[in-house]
Amino acid sequence: MEILKPKLGLLILSALLFVFNLSIWTIHGQGSIPARIDGFVYKNHLPDYADTIMIEAFFDPVCQDCRDAWPTLKQILEDYGPRLSLIVHPFALAYHDNAFVTSRALHIVNKLNASATYHLLEQFFEHQENFYNQQTFAMSRASVVDHIVRFVNKTVGDDSLSAVESGFSDSRSDLATRISFKYGCSRGVMGTPYFFVNGFPLPNAGSAVDYDGWRSIIDPLINMQGKSGDETPHFFL
Ligand SMILES: *[C@@H]1O[C@H](CO)[C@@H](O)[C@H](O)[C@H]1NC(C)=O
Ligand SMILES: *[C@@H]1O[C@H](CO)[C@@H](O)[C@H](O)[C@H]1NC(C)=O
Repeated sequence: MEILKPKLGLLILSALLFVFNLSIWTIHGQGSIPARIDGFVYKNHLPDYADTIMIEAFFDPVCQDCRDAWPTLKQILEDYGPRLSLIVHPFALAYHDNAFVTSRALHIVNKLNASATYHLLEQFFEHQENFYNQQTFAMSRASVVDHIVRFVNKTVGDDSLSAVESGFSDSRSDLATRISFKYGCSRGVMGTPYFFVNGFPLPNAGSAVDYDGWRSIIDPLINMQGKSGDETPHFFL
């Protein structure tokens, strides 16, 4: 019994420590509301809530399905013009080794020059194979970051090398990328590409949508907006 007692004490202590840790974690979680809403606004066209259809896309810069989904979505945005708004949220999938670091590069560039963010995203899509798991398997973390810094400098130009480099040692860009990820989690995002339209997830979330697919989603909404006067009461049914 005397031998058991300290063990029991230890057990209680570690249980208490566990609970204590958990509560710190919870408090920390509650305190992490970001100062700004997450995401990159396409062409700086903010949604007009009265008559814009808002698309949110969760993209992983090194996800092939996101790369394949983008040209169609871009075309749709082009064709519908100001009736649509897009916000892209980076969402770094855990099983893509360079998802977080490329997402972080988007945040860094967005801060340096918001207009260059989508250009960089497109460049990541275009040269995605440079950043796949297998292609970077033998590279150190530092050399991957260095590779990305040079890639970004080449893409964004204006000799952004040192600014991007210091962006990678600024904890704020790390935090912003974590917030993007957590924001996706809070919305139930489980894969990419993941789309929301007017705040609601598309039924086939996690897969690309083709041109006709987008049209069949957007056209009925535009029609309903046209007669929104008589539609409003139905909202409350
Ligand atoms: C920001 O990026 C845009 C698009 O890439 C470019 O045209 C513009 O010159 C850049 N502005 C600055 C200040 O670097
Ligand atoms: C960074 O980009 C500029 C062009 O904007 C280029 O002149 C310079 O050589 C680049 N630096 C590196 C290290 O690639």
